[in-house]
Amino acid sequence: MQPRLRPRRAEREAPVYRLSSAPRVEPAAEHMTGVLVMGGSAPDTRLIDVEPLARAYRRVLHDSRGSVLRYGDAAGHPRLRSALAAMLASTRGLTVGADQIFVTRGSQMALSLVARSILRRGDVVAVEALGYRHAWQAFRLAGARLLPVLVDAGGLDVAALARCAEQQRIAAVYVTPHHQFPTTVTLTQDRRQNLLELARRKGIAIIEDDYDHEFHYEGPSVMPLASLGGTATVIYVGTLSKILAPGLRIGYVAAAAELLERLAAYRAFADMQGDFVVEGAVAELMETGEVQRHVRRVRLEYRRRRDLLADRLRARLGHALSLERPSGGLAVWASSRPGTDIDRWAAAALDHGVAFQTAHTFTFSGERLPHARLGYGTLNEMEIVETVERLAAAHVAVTPG
Ligand SMILES: Cc1ncc(COP(=O)(O)O)c(C=O)c1O
Repeated sequence: MQPRLRPRRAEREAPVYRLSSAPRVEPAAEHMTGVLVMGGSAPDTRLIDVEPLARAYRRVLHDSRGSVLRYGDAAGHPRLRSALAAMLASTRGLTVGADQIFVTRGSQMALSLVARSILRRGDVVAVEALGYRHAWQAFRLAGARLLPVLVDAGGLDVAALARCAEQQRIAAVYVTPHHQFPTTVTLTQDRRQNLLELARRKGIAIIEDDYDHEFHYEGPSVMPLASLGGTATVIYVGTLSKILAPGLRIGYVAAAAELLERLAAYRAFADMQGDFVVEGAVAELMETGEVQRHVRRVRLEYRRRRDLLADRLRARLGHALSLERPSGGLAVWASSRPGTDIDRWAAAALDHGVAFQTAHTFTFSGERLPHARLGYGTLNEMEIVETVERLAAAHVAVTPG
């Protein structure tokens, strides 16, 4: 059992996002030569066979006789919407028509459009704390006030959320129930039921970010809240950034058709529509089963990487870190033992050529806590072994005596 995480309830809300207070962009460690990046939840794009994608891209351009190069539906290429609807039905028990799918450029755009479409200035959005800062910024940009809610070994503390909902109106709650970001824990079945029931009773929109649905290693993936609660209660957000590549920028929303109309209206101001050539090509790869084969292959690989990283960390750094093998995802959540300052260690690790994120990146007010998210998605087995050796050397460098 991991130690209980303690975000403070009375944290001060950060100011509404202004350009002058834009969050500092993390140093792009992945662009620093020689640095091994334990990417928070990034996949290894080296595992992708780009040839089928390149062929599909060519075919879409040729076969469409130019139609993919014209203006199109803001909700996305019809073929991709159908392919995604079929995938949601077969892998997640989520039965929605293609007309309930809205394709976006990554789930970040999905979160921004959803925020604009459902929130009014001053609305309260409950978020997991610790949690995913990029989502928080999307809600803030739409004028929301954020309410941080505790996360523990069972995921979001739904009872705490229910208590808050008795005292104030909560417009929406943003959750990552499959593998909570950043702690990797799975929301328990009881809490899922309670959350859905609370949302219905209080009229709270659940925004479910199911960013790594395919990467569950202990038995089948856990069905999303949306497949239990339906699109009347849950706005489901997914992405192909993990199963394919973040650079393709394909995410999607599955939601009630009325919401989709509003998403389209907001998209029109900034982007008009997505990239129909890429969307058509990815649709073809989904129809032929290429994407599904890729997922099966990389899931095995990531599982091996998870096991190797957890084993090496325990063997070489068990005196400094405690951790549980996560049931899925692309990262380990680890806690430093007394006597180890995780932030000093992270700074020393960068000098030794390893980048990783510590808990303050994920706390609501930037508070420092003795945890870190150690990603293994982007590192092959040799690199994982080398990474742990460098972490061990960095630990020696910051350990007195
Ligand atoms: C919690 C969470 N949601 C969503 C995403 C995916 O973002 P996108 O689809 O915009 O690439 C990520 C990627 O890091 C994530 O960690």
